[in-house]
Amino acid sequence: MNLKGKSALITGAGSGMGRAMALLFAQQGADIVICDKDLSSAEMVKVQVSGLGARVIAIEADVSNPEQVNVMVKAAFHEFPKIDILVNNAGIGSDLVPFRRMTFEQWDRMIAVHLYGTFNCTRGVIEKMIAQKQGRVINMSSVNGLMGETLAVHYSAAKAAIIGFTKALAKEVAHHGITVNAIAPGVIGTPMIDRLGSQVVDSLIKTIPMRRKGEPEEVAHLAAFLASDHASYITGQVISPNGGSYM
Ligand SMILES: NC(=O)c1ccc[n+]([C@@H]2O[C@H](COP(=O)([O-])OP(=O)(O)OC[C@H]3O[C@@H](n4cnc5c(N)ncnc54)[C@H](O)[C@@H]3O)[C@@H](O)[C@H]2O)c1
Repeated sequence: MNLKGKSALITGAGSGMGRAMALLFAQQGADIVICDKDLSSAEMVKVQVSGLGARVIAIEADVSNPEQVNVMVKAAFHEFPKIDILVNNAGIGSDLVPFRRMTFEQWDRMIAVHLYGTFNCTRGVIEKMIAQKQGRVINMSSVNGLMGETLAVHYSAAKAAIIGFTKALAKEVAHHGITVNAIAPGVIGTPMIDRLGSQVVDSLIKTIPMRRKGEPEEVAHLAAFLASDHASYITGQVISPNGGSYM
């Protein structure tokens, strides 16, 4: 997956799958913009990425905040003349709450980070991708967005909305040479999943035909493929690396 000469902006790249993508994309020759609301973890990943020889910057921004996203995008374009790849990956785990007890604030935050975050960052780069007549947008959905999950109506709704966003935008910008795809992972071994606790994770693993969690790198390889020239005829698709948990 040759990404030489490309620049990738990856949100939530301070941890988990975003971090794995930043490292793999850099290994494949891309320059990297690490965006995260947690600057210290973004800076740690920056050191690792720059150790691979890539040009990299780390920028603090909360993707749900349009002003912070504007500042972040300006800083990215200040460093790099173009952004070829945007990965809308930043996300927060579901706090497992019954719908009847879900507060407005819990609902609102989940929609804000995932859906408004995807909107804000994509709006930030899309004009320049159109002007350069090429681009790759990759949005992180979830199997929960495909099949729904109990105690996670807010998370499932946000991740399902990202699929609608992906397909609609893919249709709208395809003739500008831009592809828009979604990745809908199953259970992947990242800090987000670790926070659920080993009992919950063990019971989740029992439901997966492969009987294991996915590794962040397994998702990063899919993202690198979608970001590469090899995926030039793939758009509006939802690809779900999930060990067979949803098919
Ligand atoms: N781990 C899984 O099993 C799994 C499964 C399906 C989908 N996902 C999705 O994949 C994406 C990555 O998850 P992960 O498992 O790597 O999680 P993670 O917790 O390891 O990493 C998420 C990163 O996003 C950052 N972040 C959170 N809110 C942010 C915000 N408002 N603005 C900017 N950065 C923010 C965090 O600081 C963190 O660095 C998320 O969108 C998540 O919903 C995860």
